[in-house]
Parts: sequence; structure tokens; C-alpha cells
Amino acid sequence: MIRFERIYKSFGRRKLFEDLNFELKEKKTIAILGPNGSGKTTLIKILLGLVIPDKGKVVINNRDIYRDARYKKIIGYMPQIPEFPENLKVREIISMIEDIRDQKAIRLKELLDLLNLGKELEKKFSSLSGGTRQKVGALVALAFDTPLLILDEPLVGIDPISAYRLKGFILEEKKRDKTVIYISHIMNEVEEIADEVVFLTDGKVIFEGSLVDLKKKTGKVRLEEAVICLLSS
Ligand SMILES: Nc1ncnc2c1ncn2[C@@H]1O[C@H](COP(=O)(O)OP(=O)(O)OP(=O)(O)O)[C@@H](O)[C@H]1O
Ligand SMILES: [Mg+2]
Repeated sequence: MIRFERIYKSFGRRKLFEDLNFELKEKKTIAILGPNGSGKTTLIKILLGLVIPDKGKVVINNRDIYRDARYKKIIGYMPQIPEFPENLKVREIISMIEDIRDQKAIRLKELLDLLNLGKELEKKFSSLSGGTRQKVGALVALAFDTPLLILDEPLVGIDPISAYRLKGFILEEKKRDKTVIYISHIMNEVEEIADEVVFLTDGKVIFEGSLVDLKKKTGKVRLEEAVICLLSS
């Protein structure tokens, strides 16, 4: 469904990706794992057209994303750090995104209840706590019921009850055959949510395959141990 083909990207003199190639399967939950600075967020930004690679292309459903921007409508994206205009109220942010996407936030009510965000609707984004800003990011990513969800550390900073509920929501989405790209450093969370893993180190894919295959390859039962084994081999 999603293919990264011969991607090159440098930041100044730092070469991050050199001939990166891999494919993400449809209707799976794929965890992108790797140490800090390994290129996970940049990879996602390339997929979203927010970072343009120096060379290479990304193909979604057989379409080159740089030739056809319509693919963006099928994506719900929760960034690692949600940024919205600080002076807008949460309600206004949601309307703004509806206008930009030209789509209705059809699961808004459900998510406002789930994340306990109803009482924040009339507050300006600038006045929200860190975790509440994260929740607004989650709401905007999930409310449009898109077939592809890209979630960059979605549970970070969110209180345990809301995080539990949000995780439940993501697991339900998975059952509804959505494709989910999930970035996280919390291995228990990945073990619970993901089917497949792409492991990046220094801009290179050092493993891609199922969680079961990763455990088999490393001879470990727990993902945490399998990852440590992969990094030290
Ligand atoms: N706009 C930029 N300008 C310069 N360097 C950048 C930029 N964006 C990313 N980088 C560099 O690219 C590398 C990969 O960054 P990226 O944010 O993709 O890592 P990550 O795997 O998401 O890390 P983390 O786990 O900490 O979120 C880092 O060395 C980072 O400093
Ligand atoms: Mg990141």
C-alpha cells in the first residue's frame, strides 16, 4: 500500500537516509521503532509531504504522492508535538481543520467524551496544559475516520485513564481494518497494539517484519529484550 523507494535525505552535512527502501502493508498496525534521532519522525513527515526528500519517491496505492496530493484525505495524523494557532479556541481549531480538509469531523462527539475534552472546547489553545494539547492532537487525527492513521507517540503526556481509553479506541480502529502507523518507545504498548515492526537505526531499516518474526529472529520472548538484542547485534 505504502512504498518508500530509494529515499535520500540530508540535513546540512548530516546524511540521514541513503537509499531507504521498504513497504508498509495495508490493514496492518505497523510500529516504527528506533533510537532517538534514528529518523522515525522524518520518515513520517516525508510520507505526509512535510519534508521533501532529496531523491526518491513515496507511493501510496500505486500513486506517487508528489504528483497527486489527494492522498492526504485518507490520512489522520497525530504529530509528536501538536501545533495549532495558539490564539484559536479548540472549537475553532476543529472547524479550521474541517475547512482545510473539506471533510466533517464525524467522530467528534465520541472523541470529546472519550478524551474528556468537552469542557476545553471554548478555551484557547495557548491556555491548555501539555497533555490536553496532546489530546487535541489525537482528536484531530482520529475524528475524520480516515483509513490510514499515523500516530507519532500518541500516548505520551496523556493521563492514564485517557491513555487507556485512547489505546482502546486505536485497538477498535485496528479491528475495523484501518492501517495504523504507530511510533512509540514504550515496548509494552507496541506489543499490545502492533502487528508489524520497522526498526530504524541511523536512518537504515535494520529489521522489518512481524512481531513474531522479530522475537523468533532474536530468540527473545519479550519485545523489550528482542529490541535490545537487535541493537546490540
Ligand atoms: N529540520 C531539521 N533540520 C536539521 N536536522 C533535522 C531536522 N529534522 C530532523 N533532523 C535530524 O534528523 C535526525 C532524525 O530526526 P527525527 O526527528 O526523525 O528522529 P526520531 O527517530 O523521530 O527521534 P525521536 O525518537 O527522538 O523522536 C536527527 O539527527 C535530527 O536532528
Ligand atoms: Mg520522533
